[in-house]
Amino acid sequence: MGPGLSSARPDDTQSGADRKDLTAQMTGSHSTPPTGSAIVTRFPAAPAEAPALALEIRGLRKTYAGRRGKPGKDALNGIDLEVRRGEMFGLLGPNGAGKSTLINILAGLVVKSAGTARIWGIDIDQDPRNARAAIGVVPQELNIDAFFSPRETLELQAGMYGVPPAERRTAEILETVGLTDKADAYTRSLSGGMRRRLLVAKAMVHNPPILVLDEPTAGVDVELRRKLWDNVRTLRDGGVTVLLTTHYLEEAEALCDRVAIIDHGAIVALDTTRNLVGRLDRKELLVTVEEAVETVPAALAELGFALAPDGRLHVAYAKSRTRLPRLLGAVQAAGLHVVDLETRESDLEDIFLELTGTRPPAPSDEHAA
Ligand SMILES: Nc1ncnc2c1ncn2[C@@H]1O[C@H](COP(=O)(O)OP(=O)(O)OP(=O)(O)O)[C@@H](O)[C@H]1O
Ligand SMILES: [Mg+2]
Repeated sequence: MGPGLSSARPDDTQSGADRKDLTAQMTGSHSTPPTGSAIVTRFPAAPAEAPALALEIRGLRKTYAGRRGKPGKDALNGIDLEVRRGEMFGLLGPNGAGKSTLINILAGLVVKSAGTARIWGIDIDQDPRNARAAIGVVPQELNIDAFFSPRETLELQAGMYGVPPAERRTAEILETVGLTDKADAYTRSLSGGMRRRLLVAKAMVHNPPILVLDEPTAGVDVELRRKLWDNVRTLRDGGVTVLLTTHYLEEAEALCDRVAIIDHGAIVALDTTRNLVGRLDRKELLVTVEEAVETVPAALAELGFALAPDGRLHVAYAKSRTRLPRLLGAVQAAGLHVVDLETRESDLEDIFLELTGTRPPAPSDEHAA
């Protein structure tokens, strides 16, 4: 049992008023847990009582059963993962790597084959209801009832989680995701990007301490993506732990404290975003020279210089072994005059390519706003 759970009693008759749920924990206010449920957990109110690890995954495996005699699919091959409380953690990987499988196991949508998972200190096998109450999950698939308005959708969701009307933050959440104007429109009239934002809103209604976002900004335009990033940062600043998967490496660099790269159901790298980016010992230099160069002088070609399509001299070099002045000195020694130069450090995309052998998949635009 996790911290703060020892006082939990399976007592359905206990009134909702004296139970603290996640809302109470996050906001200091009181509210009831999901109605009609056996949820009696008292989530720890003080941060000191909250678990150090928001998510704790050990040896997680998933084999999807094969159909019509076909062999099964090993989607997760023994994942160990710890996400610390308050952290923003990114899960990156090519299509089919197993990211959604992992998230759907946490959400209770997929049954794992082996391993354990604790959400906010709560084992998903021992206490699935409370484990699920501790996270808000934004699924990759758009699954919204098209006949309700965004306002109704959020009210229904709040009802399902037993958030009393007085404590609902429907208007505030709609504002956060930029859907105030559409609050009373039919959801079927919303664009794909708006629907995705409604999904984020839905995951927030019960104020969970952990928010899990599976491709939160796929198909969302650049401006709104940045707005959503701001929203997610605001949530994090308020103490929410965030786990997200993304195809936008820029998104991971912008948001995540730590990143795990997952490939073929296994974690192939896990580090701080900064360390991962710094891991590749590679830098590129592009030099513009006064002269029109048609063939690269032999002395420069020996150092690895080549002619870029735009006429500049290009060289990739190891940061640890070659210094920039040496390269520029060689250009000058070849009788060329440097007009301008540009350097490029490796980024998360290069790391991703190196570790998985594939470029990050292009984000799906099928639901683009
Ligand atoms: N319900 C299912 N039945 C059988 N195989 C499945 C099922 N769901 C996923 N898979 C397979 O499991 C593997 C992992 O899929 P998953 O959806 O977890 O990948 P992902 O990393 O989320 O990919 P993407 O980036 O495309 O969203 C894939 O090979 C996929 O085909
Ligand atoms: Mg997925």
